Amino acid sequence: MDHFVFENSTKVYFGKGCVREYLGGLAEVYGDTVMLCYGGGSIKKNGVYDEVAGILEGAGKKIVDFSGIMENPTYRKVLEGGKLAREHGVSLLLGVGGGSVMDCCKAVSIAARYEGDLWADFWEKPGVFDFEPLPLGVIVTAAGTGSECNGSAVITNEELKIKTSHEYPVCNPRFALLDPVYTFSVPKHQMAASSFDILSHIMETYFSEPDEDNVSDDISEALMRSVIRNLRTAIQNPRDYNARSNLMWDATMAENRMIKLGKRTDFMCHIMEQQLGAYTNCGHGAGLGVLHPVYYRHICEAGRKKFARFASQVWGISSEGKTEEELAKAGVEALAAFIREIGLPTTLRELGVTEQTDLKEIAGSCPIMPGSYKRMTHGEILAIFKECF
Ligand code: NZQ
Ligand code: ZN
Repeated sequence: MDHFVFENSTKVYFGKGCVREYLGGLAEVYGDTVMLCYGGGSIKKNGVYDEVAGILEGAGKKIVDFSGIMENPTYRKVLEGGKLAREHGVSLLLGVGGGSVMDCCKAVSIAARYEGDLWADFWEKPGVFDFEPLPLGVIVTAAGTGSECNGSAVITNEELKIKTSHEYPVCNPRFALLDPVYTFSVPKHQMAASSFDILSHIMETYFSEPDEDNVSDDISEALMRSVIRNLRTAIQNPRDYNARSNLMWDATMAENRMIKLGKRTDFMCHIMEQQLGAYTNCGHGAGLGVLHPVYYRHICEAGRKKFARFASQVWGISSEGKTEEELAKAGVEALAAFIREIGLPTTLRELGVTEQTDLKEIAGSCPIMPGSYKRMTHGEILAIFKECF
C-alpha cells in the first residue's frame, strides 16, 4: 500500500430513531440559533421537517429556515446561505437532505465565516483555512454521496460552467445522523441513481494502482457486492430496513476516505460527469451510469488484470474457458447489464444532451486525472461522450 495519514472527525449516529434520540443533545452544544437547511420540500412531505423542527424547538433553539437547495447546488445558493447565516448570527448549520444539501451546507459553513472571494480561494484552487468554518451537522435523507463523512462540497458555478470541489477535512460535519427509515421515501429511480453513485465511488478507487494485495481493494470488493445485492432487494421492497441500512452505510464507507487509503484513485469518470452536469444539470448518479461502461471499455485493456478480478470477485463470473481479456470484458459487460437492470438511462440523450450541446467544449473543460490505468486525452473524452450519445 502507498503511505497515508488517516483521520475522520465526523461522529456518526446510525439507526432507526437516532434523530429523536440524539439531536436535542447535540444541538445543546452549539448555541441558540440553528439554520435548518434543506432542499425542494421532500422533508416537508415525509414528516422529517416536523420531527426535526419539533426537537429543535423543544431544545429551546431559534430556527432560521434555508430552503430550496437544488440538485447540483449552485455557487449563488451558497452565497445566499452565507449571507443568511451571518445576518441571523447562526451558531449551527443543520443540513437535512442528500448530497446536494450537505455539500451546499459545507460551502455555506465557509461562506458564513470568510470575507474574501470564496470561489477563487476555495473552489478554483485548494484553499487555506486560517479560520474555523461555521459548525455543521447533517441528517441524511438520501444515501449515496457519502458527503456526511467527508469534507468535499461539489458546487456548480453556473456563470463559469464549472462543477468542482476539493477535500477539506475541516469541513467534515461535526456529527451525522443516519436513520435508514428516512430514506424509505426516496423514489426508486433516485435510489437507483444514488446507489450507482456509491458503486462508482468504489470502482473509481478500486480501478487504480497499486494493485498488489491490499486491504482497501478487499474492502472495496465486499462493498461492491453489498451495494449490488442490497439495491436489488430495495428495488423489490423499498421499505426493507436491512437493505436500506446496508445501502446507507455502504455509501458512507465508500466516501469516508477509508477505501482510498494506500490507493491512488482514478475519478476521471466523476470529472466527466461533473462537467456534463455543469452544462446540462443532469443528475449525478444517472450521468455516471451512462458514462461508466463506455469509459471502462476504453481502459479495460490497460487495466486488464484488475477488470478480470472484478469479473470474478464482484460478479461471480467463472474464468473457466476464458482468456484474461475475455474475463475482463465480461466484468465490464456485467456492469453494463446491471445498469440496464436497475433502470438507469444508458444514453446522454436521455439526460437532456442534444445535437446542439457542444460536447467538444465540455470535453475540453475536463481536467485530466492522473490515477487512471490509461491517461485520457481531451480527444478520447470527446470520443467517449460521442459513444454515449
Ligand atoms: O430536494 P428534495 O425535495 O429534498 O428532493 C431530493 C432531490 O430531488 C430527493 N430526496 C432526498 N431525500 C429524499 C428525497 N426524496 C424523497 N424522500 C427523501 N427522503 O432526492 C433528490 C436528489 O437529491 P440530491 O441531494 O441531489 O442527491 P444526491 O444525494 O445524489 O446528491 C447529489 C449531489 O452530490 C454531489 C453530486 O455531484 C451532486 O451535486 N456529490 C457529492 C459528493 C461528496 N460531497 O462527497 C461526492 C459525489 O461524488 C457527488 O459528486
Ligand atoms: Zn459521486
